[in-house]
Amino acid sequence: MRLDHVGIAVRDLTAATALFRTLLGREPSGTEDVPGERVRVAFFQVGETRIELLEPTAPDSPVAKFLEKRGEGIHHFALAVADVDGEAARLRASGATLAGEPRSGAGGARVAFVHPKSAGGVLVELSSGHHGRAGGGR
Ligand code: CO
Repeated sequence: MRLDHVGIAVRDLTAATALFRTLLGREPSGTEDVPGERVRVAFFQVGETRIELLEPTAPDSPVAKFLEKRGEGIHHFALAVADVDGEAARLRASGATLAGEPRSGAGGARVAFVHPKSAGGVLVELSSGHHGRAGGGR
């Protein structure tokens, strides 16, 4: 298990990408629409982990609701695990609350979400990791 990325909710992906380009002194990996979560995302590689910027693409997006309630800021962190479905089942069996079922996320990764009430107030994503990570292509 390792920290795969930290997700930050933003209102304007273009503006936030410009901020992080300056902050990190590097280019993002490009943007991607994730229709299942109704978000558009951009990733910045930072050492072994990444920063994920998330902009909602619909008013009913979970990220839109987060922005309404809490404003811009850290939305979740993601742990890379080999078996997302197995880990989700293990957590559920030990009493954790999951936010929905395991599903497809950004970069074709398998993802599941642990509800903040089961993780110290922070949404936790379990991710199978993203394709092309090792080569640094995206
Ligand atoms: Co994420």
